[in-house]
Parts: sequence; structure tokens; C-alpha cells
Amino acid sequence: MSNATHELTAQLLRRKPAAMLMSESATAGGLKRALRALDLTLLGIGAIVGAGIFVLTGVAAEKYAGPAVVLSFCVSGFACAMAALCYAEFAAMIPVAGSAYSYAYATMGELIGWIIGWDLVLEYAVGAAAVAVGWSGYLRVILEGVGIHLPVALTHAPGSMPGAIIDLPALLIVLLISGILYIGISESARFNSLIVAVKLIVIGVVIVVGAFYVRPANWNPFAPFGWNGVMKGAAVIFFAYIGFDAVSTAAEEVVEPNRDLPIGILVSLFVCTALYVLVAAVVTGMVPARMLDINAPLASAFVIRGLRAVSGIISIGAVAGLTSVLLVLLLGQSRIFYAISRDGLLPPAFSRVHPRFQTPYIPTILTGIAVGVAAALLPIQEIAELTNIGTLFAFVLVCLGVWILRYAEPGLVRPFRTPLVPLVPILGALFCGYLMSSLPTVTWIRFFIWMGIGFVIYFGYGRYHSRVAAEARKTQADTPAARQA
Ligand code: ALA
Repeated sequence: MSNATHELTAQLLRRKPAAMLMSESATAGGLKRALRALDLTLLGIGAIVGAGIFVLTGVAAEKYAGPAVVLSFCVSGFACAMAALCYAEFAAMIPVAGSAYSYAYATMGELIGWIIGWDLVLEYAVGAAAVAVGWSGYLRVILEGVGIHLPVALTHAPGSMPGAIIDLPALLIVLLISGILYIGISESARFNSLIVAVKLIVIGVVIVVGAFYVRPANWNPFAPFGWNGVMKGAAVIFFAYIGFDAVSTAAEEVVEPNRDLPIGILVSLFVCTALYVLVAAVVTGMVPARMLDINAPLASAFVIRGLRAVSGIISIGAVAGLTSVLLVLLLGQSRIFYAISRDGLLPPAFSRVHPRFQTPYIPTILTGIAVGVAAALLPIQEIAELTNIGTLFAFVLVCLGVWILRYAEPGLVRPFRTPLVPLVPILGALFCGYLMSSLPTVTWIRFFIWMGIGFVIYFGYGRYHSRVAAEARKTQADTPAARQA
């Protein structure tokens, strides 16, 4: 191997020392520590319950799984639980902003760290764009309910309807939420708690009221498309679970991260899984799965059974629910950019903290604009599929990372230990990999293109500006042998 190749390989595999991550967390001096376990659980639920349950349940039940969508939720929920247990170990051990990006950098080296960071943009930013489009759709349902009909040209992405030009409500909600995040985390968390409460009440109404209208005959046939349908359904409604990991992106703003982060991640995921299974069982029991409206399945089940008022309440809850999902996804994205930039892999502007609001305001603004434009102009299904593949890939790497780090750095203090290693990480990686394999080829192609762009940025910029690499060069230059030379 030539010297240059050797140096390059060493850099790509260079791991960011966990101690360096932690000391940054202690000295970052920018972000305010204001969040506790309950805030995190609410942040998690705020991120999780959204377009997946309110919109995609319909597609999964009608096209793929039938009433067995209940099983799809269990399969996806299981995959996420395994990944969540791994996330919790990392999040407690390395409580810094940056989530899976920071974990991968510490365990699998700079290149994989960058790959996963770039990949998380799919989860957070692209996912946020999909949610914003769903938000706009539910807003339309509410407005139409009170007789207000907005013009098609201004409420749909081009190509989705004849005459459609731009989805303006989707753009505006993204800009509004970005404005709130610009002002600060503590205000944002309060705003989030309020919306989460509304969302949980609405989900509770669906379950409790809907239960009285269940006809067990509707659950027959239970799985019209067999196990294959259940798995395809699981790959689609996986979107419904995205977000629990967002809790870990707020790590530097948590008062007691070692204790609060695992609680926040695991409790929020557990609560959501239970709610999803109940909602799916009730809704498919109320009406035959093939009769559900794909755009607003929960509301449509109640309309079909003559409960219009309840359906109105659900739509309002959906708008509130999707708002809080957007909040957490956009928050997560700006914090990930912040962490990547602090490492030198993105320009320094991305980690500048606002002197008054103490927020990473530049990535907040840039993310808001990019996500808003994407939401205004792109079709939702394709954005959601791309989000899923990116997120699943991140989960696979996090699972493997936990396993690797147990051998690479066994001495690290682990306030929360993933149980049954390596079984849990292996199951997590296998289930997430299997869900990835159930996604369409075109999604894979887009995924590879996205990663290709990421490589260009890394090899064109990040590699030359990496702070870990710079520190290593400095240390090398300071060695007695180097000084003599
Ligand atoms: N889990 C989030 C949702 O369902 C992304 O909208």
C-alpha cells in the first residue's frame, strides 16, 4: 500500500474518541440544559405519532395487510424496539447532539459516521417534508368540513393533481415551526407538550368510541394477502415509528441524560406501539379494510359509521399531531447538522450558536427553507419511502455499532446496557434489513443516488476539514520522532 492510500484508509477509519465526544458535551457551552424524562417522553411521542398512524394505516390495511395490519405494526414495532434498546445504550453513554451520527463516528470511524449523518437527513429533513404534505392534506379536510375550499393550484404539489402548482400550506407550516425552533428549545418543548396532549386525547377517542362500533366479522379474512402482505405493510407503516430516536438528538439539552434518555426513548416507543395496535384493531373492526379512505383512514371509518362529529375531532387531532412531529423532526435535523459541523465535516456556520436564543440558528433556517420547498413541490408517497429506507439503514448501523463497541471499548461506562447483546443488536439489524428489502427498487436507486451525493461532499470538503483528523495530525507532529525529522 502506498503512503497516501495508507493515510486515507487511516483517516476513513479514524474513530472519534468517546471521551472527546463527552468532553464536547460538557464544554459545548452553547445549548441550554432544560429537558427532563417527561419532556423527552413527550418529545418522543410528539415525534412518533403522526402521518404513519393517521395516513399510512389506510394504505397498509387496504393494499397489503388487511386487518392483519395489526401484525404489521407488531413486526415494525419489534424491529424498532430492538433498535431502541441499542439507541438507549448509545444515548446514555454518549449524550451529545447528533444521535446515530455521533455514535457511528465513535464506533465505526469517520466515513461511516459521515454516511450515517448524511443518511439521517433522509429521516429528519425528508421525513419532515412528507409529514408537512400530510399536514396540508388534513388541513384541507378540516377546511372543507366548514365549507372553505382552497384552490387546487395552491394546495397540491405539481403533478399530483391537474392544475396543481404548489402546496402552499405545507410550505407555510414548515416555515412557522422553523421560526419557533429559532427562538429556543424550552419554549418549543412547552408548545410540544400541549400538542401531544391533544393528540393523545384524539387517539384515545378513536380507541374508546370506535371500540363500541367494532363488528368482529370485519376482521375476517384477517390476512387477505398472507404473510407477504403483512411484511409489505410493515415496511410501509414503519414510517409510523420514526422519531423515537429523535429524543437522543436533544441529548445536550437534557438535565440528566444518563437516566432520562433511555427512559424517554423506551417509554415513548412502548406507549406508541400499544396505541397503534389498538387503533389498527379498532379501525379495521369498524369497517372492512377495503372501504377505508387512503388519505384519511381513521376519519373515514367514523364517517362510514355515521359519526361525523368524531371524524371532525380526529382531523383536528391529526393536524395537531402532525405539527408536533414536524417540530421534533426539524429540531433533530438542525441538531444533527450542528454536530456534524462541529466536527468539521460541514462548514462552521452550521454550528454557530445564536448569542441570545442559544440555538443553532443557521441550520435551523437552512433546514426550514429546504424542507419547506421540498414539501411544497414533491409527492408524499415517494418522499415517505425514501425516508423509510434511510432510517432503516441508520438503525442497522446503530445496532451493529452497539455490538462492535462492546468489544472495541469494553471499559466505557455504560449507564444503560442493551440487554442480551449480541442477540438484541442482531435481531434489530436483521429485522430492519428485512424491512429495507421489502421496499421497491426505485427507492433503493434513489437511496444510492443520495448516498453518492454524500460521498461527493465528504471527499470534496469534509475529509479536508475534519477536526478529528486535524487533532491527529497535530499529535503526530508533536511526537519526538517528528520533531527530529
Ligand atoms: N412517525 C412519524 C409519523 O408517523 C414520522 O408521522
